[in-house]
Amino acid sequence: MSRHKTDLVIFSEIHVDQALKKALARERADLINEVRDSGLKGRGGAGFPTGTKWNLAGAAQGDRKFVVCNADEGEPGTFKDRVLLTDYAEQLIAGMVVAGYCIGAREGIIYLRGEYEYMMRGLKETMVAMRKRNLLGKDIAGKKGFEFDIHIHLGAGAYVCGEETALIESLEGHRGEPRNRPPFPVTTGYLGCPTVVNNVETFITAFHIIDKGAAWFRKFGTDKSTGTKLFSVSGDCARPGVYEFPMGITVANLLKEVGGENAKAVQIGGASGRCVARHEFGSTIAYEDIPTGGSIIVFGPHRNMLQVAKNFMEFFLEESCGQCTPCRYGTETLLEGIKLLEQKKCPMKYLRELISLGETMQVSSKCGLGQSAPNAFISILQNFKHEILAHPQGE
Ligand SMILES: Cc1cc2nc3c(=O)[nH]c(=O)nc-3n(C[C@H](O)[C@H](O)[C@H](O)COP(=O)(O)O)c2cc1C
Ligand code: SF4
Repeated sequence: MSRHKTDLVIFSEIHVDQALKKALARERADLINEVRDSGLKGRGGAGFPTGTKWNLAGAAQGDRKFVVCNADEGEPGTFKDRVLLTDYAEQLIAGMVVAGYCIGAREGIIYLRGEYEYMMRGLKETMVAMRKRNLLGKDIAGKKGFEFDIHIHLGAGAYVCGEETALIESLEGHRGEPRNRPPFPVTTGYLGCPTVVNNVETFITAFHIIDKGAAWFRKFGTDKSTGTKLFSVSGDCARPGVYEFPMGITVANLLKEVGGENAKAVQIGGASGRCVARHEFGSTIAYEDIPTGGSIIVFGPHRNMLQVAKNFMEFFLEESCGQCTPCRYGTETLLEGIKLLEQKKCPMKYLRELISLGETMQVSSKCGLGQSAPNAFISILQNFKHEILAHPQGE
């Protein structure tokens, strides 16, 4: 897989040891304000403001607090955290140390995707080296009384465990099922203690922001979506790989960069995202337009879009934890509907009912998995009706 780097933010130069020492010499509130002023929003998909999250966890009562790195990276089509965990592990660990300092935590956990077990050795070696340099452990960087250390917890291959409360359940040794919210992890997280859960990219981006300043970060992106973002680009394009682009890039410009100008559709945000057709390629990738955790799947003119919808729905049916009815029943029923469409036996009245079921799932499912499971189905039907309904369906 190729890596197409720019040197904007995430891939810009940073001297980890010096940047960490410099950060720990500042007041906690000052660091949190820097992150807040940068406008950084979580890079795992949901886009919650990182400074606010750290502030809430810092203000929460509790002798024991945790910093958890969400390295589950289960969204179909995303592989940018893999690059960060492999080549930028020091920056991730330093980012977690800074988060621990900001919220008053001594313990950090990396929740590593089961399929990334092969990375354990490299990550552990990086931590050993950082302990030797006094960047992890006791009195970090000479800061008397500040201690922070990290251990790695391996996931077992469930997509839903990327959802932060299911992740916490899994960390505690339970079935990976999402919790009711509130209470939120910032007050009641791992072992009932205040917990910050952030994506790999979020920690690294925050580390750069603290080193180079909020104003520097805001120079990239848009007013509502500041900075840059990593994109995992795959599918029918000449140059798939991991890219860093400013937020607010248009779909058309992104396709030009990756050699995918010929695309008939792009799935933005992975299976849980939205399928965008050519007439929408002028849209921007940003929280205020099309938000994404970074998965971009390009579909060339020859692709059968009903098969694409089927593939995604099979994934959701397999990964639904089954805890709530809209998702458990909805994923199965939508998949059956897609199969009827395939056989040209889906009456229009039933198709309308399926869309209505999808919309019900979006508002009534308990977690993001069920809420987003119908997105691809609905957007593909909207955009490719002519292709999918080209042949008459039964009565
Ligand atoms: C089904 C599901 C899977 C998710 N998978 C991931 C994941 O693999 N990595 C991730 O960082 N966030 C994932 N999330 C989002 C997390 O719940 C959470 O919002 C995120 O870890 C918060 O970190 P951030 O604010 O830095 O983005 C997932 C959410 C859902 C609903
Ligand atoms: S929406 Fe799906 S994955 Fe989420 S709690 Fe309900 S059944 Fe489980």
